Amino acid sequence: MTTPLAAVTGADGFIGSHLVQALVASGHRVRAMAQYNSWGTHGWLDTLPPDVLDQVDTVLGDVRDPGSVQDLVAGADCVYHLAALIAIPYSYRAPHSYVETNVSGTLNVLQAVRRAATPRLVHTSTSETYGTAQTVPITEDHPVNCQSPYAASKAGADQLVASYTASFDTPAVTLRPFNTFGPRQSMRAVIPAVIGQLAAGAETLRLGDLRPTRDFMFVQDTAQAFVAVGTAPGADVLGRVFNAGTGTETSVGEAVRLIAQLMDTGAVVEEDPQRLRPTGSEVMRLLCDASRLRDATGWKPEHTLESGLDHTIRFFRDPANLARYRTAAYTI
Ligand SMILES: NC(=O)c1ccc[n+]([C@@H]2O[C@H](COP(=O)([O-])OP(=O)(O)OC[C@H]3O[C@@H](n4cnc5c(N)ncnc54)[C@H](O)[C@@H]3O)[C@@H](O)[C@H]2O)c1
Repeated sequence: MTTPLAAVTGADGFIGSHLVQALVASGHRVRAMAQYNSWGTHGWLDTLPPDVLDQVDTVLGDVRDPGSVQDLVAGADCVYHLAALIAIPYSYRAPHSYVETNVSGTLNVLQAVRRAATPRLVHTSTSETYGTAQTVPITEDHPVNCQSPYAASKAGADQLVASYTASFDTPAVTLRPFNTFGPRQSMRAVIPAVIGQLAAGAETLRLGDLRPTRDFMFVQDTAQAFVAVGTAPGADVLGRVFNAGTGTETSVGEAVRLIAQLMDTGAVVEEDPQRLRPTGSEVMRLLCDASRLRDATGWKPEHTLESGLDHTIRFFRDPANLARYRTAAYTI
């Protein structure tokens, strides 16, 4: 049997680099796109173990460029499309770049897989497209209500994927992860912002709103959800949208308290006004119902919030990892 070839956009990023590892562990060869940059770095891919990288061909490219996407997908058995601009605060400041990357970039992926007759596209959505939960837990039938330009650009991409399946029978499946955390995440998200500041010795934690609740999922579980929809029988997943989350609701404040306890610190929390979002844009509640994904693929999360936090704390306590972050600055 030949080794299946997976092509991954956003492979240089947080979830993408964990997905590359999961794909290699499940017997794939991977063609990984890292975003072109003048330093020639491959993002987090540069930190993967050599035995993983033996199975990975990394190409520099850009999803905004149709040609580089065509080259990436050529001959792939499955394309995992994760590349995106993801920061909500930066989407207030630079919304055009979100449309170009997240909407036009996804259109380029769709055109490329259509042209190459790729057997499967796994597209990445986000729980942010639901906005503050109107009913809980959130199923895939919950209304879409975008509260940030980021969410709107992702919903636009989701609709393009649905339209390609309707119009051209494009064999696509959309995975909609809820909030993911773990090693390699950037300081833009709350869990690494807390752990990073504490690991750097901060006695005062500078944070935004502590009231919103989230369904926090450890990144290895998110990566396994991608592999699950990428490898399940087509009849079970193609043309469908799947939530991925744990079904556990935790407020940001509760997560902060748990981290402080696990890291054995008495740090005090200080509200940082620049980290607060406009009231109408803050998504106050997200809680996932992932039963559709479980029923279709058998996937379920393997980590609790606490065990995932343990892994994440160990990562940030390693000085070599911590040195990659600016923990004192507010990163958007
Ligand atoms: N982190 C979460 O909690 C979460 C939750 C739901 C969905 N998602 C989705 O998961 C995906 C990955 O997110 P992440 O958290 O790993 O973020 P990330 O920023 O670490 O990864 C995104 C990657 O996309 C790449 N990229 C950006 N613009 C590009 C371009 N023009 N061309 C090529 N590559 C480009 C970046 O280099 C980056 O590494 C995104 O689609 C995001 O919307 C993330």
